[in-house]
Amino acid sequence: MAVGIFDSGLGGLTVLDAVAKRLPDVPLVYLGDSAHAPYGVRTPDDIYNLTTSATQRLFDEGCDLVILACNTASAAALRRMQENWVPQGKRVLGVFVPMIEALTERQWGDNSPPREVAAKHVALFATPATVASRAFQRELAFRAVGVDVEAQACGGVVDAIEDGDMILADALVRSHVDALMRKMPQPDAAILGCTHYPLMETEFQAALGPDVKVFSQANLVAESLADYLARRPEMVGPGLESAFLTTGDPVKVSARATQFLRRQITFTAA
Ligand code: DGL
Repeated sequence: MAVGIFDSGLGGLTVLDAVAKRLPDVPLVYLGDSAHAPYGVRTPDDIYNLTTSATQRLFDEGCDLVILACNTASAAALRRMQENWVPQGKRVLGVFVPMIEALTERQWGDNSPPREVAAKHVALFATPATVASRAFQRELAFRAVGVDVEAQACGGVVDAIEDGDMILADALVRSHVDALMRKMPQPDAAILGCTHYPLMETEFQAALGPDVKVFSQANLVAESLADYLARRPEMVGPGLESAFLTTGDPVKVSARATQFLRRQITFTAA
């Protein structure tokens, strides 16, 4: 019984960590496509092709359910995968739904008319491809009225994190927050719409100031997965072993992952 967790690189480890804490008995197979990161500057077709082949790899590993712990893949590829590609008996879920549910204070399947929610000025930080997809704004508009969303494409942050250059990542976070706040001086909520960004959550919060509520996905996704598996226990696939797979250099990727999660993580080649 294993669940697959996919990201373009290391960012999905923030989700894996929260899921491992919430569901300690479920083996998790993580696949980071570090050889092709960042996805956020790629075309939707490219993101679709890379995401389907990584997801297939996780199916082959004994996972029937794969979480795309990557907003870029969730925004640019998930709907097309669900409509045309996911094989019978398998499921692929993204990371958008739990975030939208938290922000709009209602369940995904609630089809009542959009209504007012607490957050009025929302800052969205995400990759260029996620921002360009406008997927977040579209899903929000179905459910909430009167919410002003200002999106900031945070070029370079994923590359800096993948390279382990946290000084550069910090400088880029500050400059992206500055740019956002020139467009929206007083956001009341900020969404870290890329699973790499929780690794910089302290820096985002410091740059935004204490009055901005920062929504980060990891715990929301873990809670939503626990709820899903309670309803669909058969979706835990036949795999028995946890594993960390990478398309990048396993030695480098293991060192960064160990640094980020503060426990020994050993990747092997995908
Ligand atoms: N962690 C991915 C996300 O959530 C990063 C995408 C990228 O590789 O640019 O969007």
